[in-house]
Amino acid sequence: MTNRKIGVLVSGRGSNLQAIIDKIRDEKLPIDISIVISDSPEAFALKRAREAGIPAMGILRQDCADKASFETAIDDALRGAGVELVVLAGFMRILSADFVNKWPQSIINIHPALLPAFKGLDAQGQALQYGVKIAGCTVHFVDAGMDSGPIILQKAVPVFDEDTHDTLAARILVQEHTILPEAVKLWSEGRLEVKGRKVRIRKA
Ligand code: GRF
Repeated sequence: MTNRKIGVLVSGRGSNLQAIIDKIRDEKLPIDISIVISDSPEAFALKRAREAGIPAMGILRQDCADKASFETAIDDALRGAGVELVVLAGFMRILSADFVNKWPQSIINIHPALLPAFKGLDAQGQALQYGVKIAGCTVHFVDAGMDSGPIILQKAVPVFDEDTHDTLAARILVQEHTILPEAVKLWSEGRLEVKGRKVRIRKA
C-alpha cells in the first residue's frame, strides 16, 4: 500500500504541524507530508518542515496579481505534490469558495474554540470575553463558510477565573496537538464518513 499524501498550509509558528510530524513518526503512520506551504516566508513552520526533511515553500499573496492567482499557485503546488488531503494548521487566510469547492471534503482545519461558538479570529479572546467556563478546540472539514464545515473532533478544556489570554490559549493548544493529528490519522484510515453536517467515525 502506498502512503496517503497530505499537504499542510501554515502561517506562523507551526506547533500543530510539528504535532502531525511527530505523530506520523512516533506511530509510524503510512502518511507522507508531501508539501508544506506558507503565505509568510518567515513562518517558523517552514523551518520545522525543512528540519523534518519535508518540501516546504512560501507562496506569498503580495507576489500574486490577485487572490485567484494566489490560490491557483497554492492549488498547483498541492496537486503537483500529489496531495489528497489539505490540512490548515494555523493558516491565517480565508480560502475562497472556488478553492474550497475544488477540494470537496478534502480540507480540514483546526480552530481554537468549540464550534459553532467563537468563529473567526482570536477565538480564545472571544471565549474569555464572553465568560464561558468551558472552552476548547475543533477539527472540522472546510466548506465555503467560515469555520462552518462538518465537525470531526472536539476537545474541551476548563476556563479558570485567573486565566489570561496566554494561559487559556496554551491549555487549548495542548488539545489541538492531540485532535488535529488524530483527525489526520482517522482520515488516512478511511474512517471519516460525512453525511450532511455529521461526520461519523467508523470503528477500526
Ligand atoms: C492555533 O491556535 C490554531 O488553532 C489557530 O492558529 C494557531 C496556530 O498555531 N488556527 P501553530 O502555528 O500551529 O503553532
